[in-house]
Amino acid sequence: MFEFGDVRFRPFEKEDLKVLHEWENDFEVVMYSRNYPMNFASMAQLEQQYEEWLKDEKQIHFLVELAESKEPIGIARLEQHAWANVKTADIGTYIGKKEFWGKGLGTQITVALLEMAFNQLNADRCEASSVEYNERAHKALVACGFKKSGVTRQSAFVNGRKWDRFYFDILRDEYLKIRLDLLKKTLGNKLEEYIKKHCTIKGY
Ligand SMILES: CC(C)(COP(=O)(O)OP(=O)(O)OC[C@H]1O[C@@H](n2cnc3c(N)ncnc32)[C@H](O)[C@@H]1OP(=O)(O)O)[C@@H](O)C(=O)NCCC(=O)NCCS
Repeated sequence: MFEFGDVRFRPFEKEDLKVLHEWENDFEVVMYSRNYPMNFASMAQLEQQYEEWLKDEKQIHFLVELAESKEPIGIARLEQHAWANVKTADIGTYIGKKEFWGKGLGTQITVALLEMAFNQLNADRCEASSVEYNERAHKALVACGFKKSGVTRQSAFVNGRKWDRFYFDILRDEYLKIRLDLLKKTLGNKLEEYIKKHCTIKGY
């Protein structure tokens, strides 16, 4: 388990497929998170996907809950890969319970994933991507220090037209420079507790 501010990351269990089935068939959630909302996911398909997740050592899938109530609100994914000896963490998340959008939780989840990538997994860089119209996700990434690094033009078709896909990344050194400010901003009065648990160097 990894607790960060108001959210908690725990392993994704088979029982969680029920709530995943709901979220993965929500047009809006899928339209923003993966841009092919007509690709409805049956329970059998999700079960198959879950079996593949179990075998995949490079990807970690989490269920994200509210730390206090343990209510499941979404999922997060961290995939590690190395190209030319550079360790990259590719991250993604969605909040499936739409009533929790726009309350700062997505920003907390993103900083938590950066902490996992850089502070626990020793990544050199971290990347994420999102479809052009997903302004909320772009703002959350930029607020966490990501910079726009590229575009795949007209690579998605949703709601009657083609859209670009935007890519973002952040390097380890860039993250370390803003880390304390980000932790302060997202953890508030839980900062000291987090530092005690997860930081061995004073001041970080
Ligand atoms: C994207 C997502 C994870 C962001 O989490 P969130 O909790 O809703 O976002 P936050 O409250 O942390 O806000 C993030 C930024 O978006 C801004 N924002 C909030 N609501 C917004 C809206 N309706 N339109 C535009 N920007 C908005 C916030 O002001 C904030 O920007 P700031 O830091 O510059 O002020 C969440 O909305 C979500 O899961 N959406 C659906 C699926 C998805 O898009 N997944 C991500 C795919 S990459």
